[in-house]
Amino acid sequence: MPIDIDAIRAQFPSLAVTDDNRARIYFDNPGGTQVPQIVIDRMTDCLIRNNANLGGYFATSIGAGAIMDGARSAMADFLNAASPDEIVFGQNMTTLTFSMSRSLGRRFGPGDEIVLTRMDHDGNVSPWLLLARDLGLTVKWLDFNPETFEFDLPDLAKLLGPKTRLVAVNHASNATGTINDVKAISRMAKEAGALVYVDSVQYAPHGSIDVQDIGCDFLVCSAYKFFGPHQGILWGRADLLEELEAYKVRPAASAGPEKFETGTQSHEGMAGVTAAVDYFAGIGATMAKEHHTRHAGFSGRRRDVRAAMDLLFAYETSLAERLIDGLKTLPDVTVQGITAPEAMARRVPTISFITPHHAPRELAAALAGQNVFAWSGHNYAVEVIDRLGLAERGGVLRLGLAHYNTAAEVDFVLDALRRVL
Ligand SMILES: Cc1ncc(COP(=O)(O)O)c(C=O)c1O
Repeated sequence: MPIDIDAIRAQFPSLAVTDDNRARIYFDNPGGTQVPQIVIDRMTDCLIRNNANLGGYFATSIGAGAIMDGARSAMADFLNAASPDEIVFGQNMTTLTFSMSRSLGRRFGPGDEIVLTRMDHDGNVSPWLLLARDLGLTVKWLDFNPETFEFDLPDLAKLLGPKTRLVAVNHASNATGTINDVKAISRMAKEAGALVYVDSVQYAPHGSIDVQDIGCDFLVCSAYKFFGPHQGILWGRADLLEELEAYKVRPAASAGPEKFETGTQSHEGMAGVTAAVDYFAGIGATMAKEHHTRHAGFSGRRRDVRAAMDLLFAYETSLAERLIDGLKTLPDVTVQGITAPEAMARRVPTISFITPHHAPRELAAALAGQNVFAWSGHNYAVEVIDRLGLAERGGVLRLGLAHYNTAAEVDFVLDALRRVL
């Protein structure tokens, strides 16, 4: 069964919102996605029925605990974690990464080396740079090829050595859209004895994630990028989470993932996370049955989420190709990312471009005038924009698709751009 785009769109109330009778075209998805009704309902239900702190003997507190447990299980299914106890919740990816970098830093010392990349969002750069400053670590940079927008992995081999303690790398770039071979990167880093910290924030809305297959040590993502609420999620290998010391208050839990979850968490956010995972699973169970056989090793929600991602990725890729083909026909537009049709499996549908005649922010404003929502600038991918030499020119115009977008929307945006250019 192919994707039923009308049935999908009907689940997102915000897609029907208009401004002065003009439809909204959400191409701002890499900055945050819209949410389906199931997410709204579960969050509302949490606030109505289970609005209490944890650890009490009364119904609301017991209910809040069950929501937290449910969210850990849902994320364990989403990421194929070995156990729900490997899931840590936090405010967002950036906050979780700052916190984990401090705990990890207790294992590092002056002269130790860490590898960061020129392709990463600053959420996976600055926490480590500041740690390096505080501890006297040496930072080594993995560059990407500005022609191919990909890493050359032999470059990584040259950076790794006996002093390498950590490799921090993104799964997919929020600027170029490149999907990185995090499995190969993890293998290389582990062979050198380093820990691997993967930022899957931009990959999670588009492809299925299997932390056991990747072989990393930590992986972070954010539910507001995959159709859930503002909620950060960190997966960490059980033995490491157990060994690491958490920066926490004394009365708080000193074991399990809870020790990293400082203060009171957003239980309504966790209810929404479970709903987002269930949303994918619902697609997998209904529209993506023909993909089940590809995931024979999985069952239930783990299988359904993976099948859904296969279906949605194929659909998104068709939209991305349409958008890239259209951009190629516009005057002087240069896409800053993979464009070859045969390489579309190596990118998410986040398509950034520049043109010599218009600053990215002018284009974003012109599109906003047509009720097309798009981001411009560096979008916190400061290393990428610097590396591409685009900082002075105001970065890029970024058109980021999600599976609820349509071919008609792509055509509308291309027409709008044609008029502006
Ligand atoms: C690739 C990537 N990493 C990290 C982040 C930061 O995520 P958060 O807002 O959850 O801190 C973003 C946000 O856009 C991102 O795109």
